[in-house]
Amino acid sequence: MKTKLSVNINKIATLRNSRGGNVPDLMRVASDVQRFGGEGITIHPRPDERHIRYQDAYDLKPVVTTEYNIEGNPIPKFVDLVMDIKPTQVTLVPDAEDAITSNAGWDTIKHKAFLQKVISDFKKEGIRTSIFVDPDIKMIEGAKDTGTDRIELYTEDFAKLYGSGNHKQAIKPYADCAILANKLGLGVNAGHDLSLDNIKFFKENIPGLLEVSIGHALICESIYLGLDNVINMYLNKLK
Ligand code: PXP
Repeated sequence: MKTKLSVNINKIATLRNSRGGNVPDLMRVASDVQRFGGEGITIHPRPDERHIRYQDAYDLKPVVTTEYNIEGNPIPKFVDLVMDIKPTQVTLVPDAEDAITSNAGWDTIKHKAFLQKVISDFKKEGIRTSIFVDPDIKMIEGAKDTGTDRIELYTEDFAKLYGSGNHKQAIKPYADCAILANKLGLGVNAGHDLSLDNIKFFKENIPGLLEVSIGHALICESIYLGLDNVINMYLNKLK
């Protein structure tokens, strides 16, 4: 089964914002990512707009001709934005306003009622839903009760352990959770700290992996190898 590559372009917006102008041009990068073979564009607008701005989310709508995935904490401002844009998928992430990057998945048991409500509102608008979760069996069971279409496995721990050479230990909780999610009828996405080094092993060991969203490593690797090359290297590893 093929796994789709969705490219997170937040880092491009961070680079642009650092000088105040329009270099690099986020729209051009989004369009080139897709021309080079990227199968989706992911953005994660945060309330302080320090990388992706809310206006970027609107401007990208006609540019994204593949799958458009918008991630974020479903505060009212974010919910309104997503409802307005109607992307292919919304990925709900419980990140604090000042978090440097997402650093935990949902407690799907504690926040069940809240998630059920936002998920059903998005689904009514025809937007596919995914929720960011740690690789914890209880959180996957809880995810099923929220009504979400998919889960996104938070892969930071995998990447860390894999990097230190503990490949089997790194993958085990993720494989167990993916098997359960498949059984429960939940689609499986994954993201965070995935890279050219670890993606092939992850893909080969996670049954039914539908999509990965990758930003930081992919953009860093592109500095040396070029965006076109890097996207195609990922596509080869995700075959
Ligand atoms: N998934 C979620 C929910 C994220 O917040 C991020 C980072 O914005 C990613 C995936 C991508 O992580 P990375 O930039 O490490 O590839």
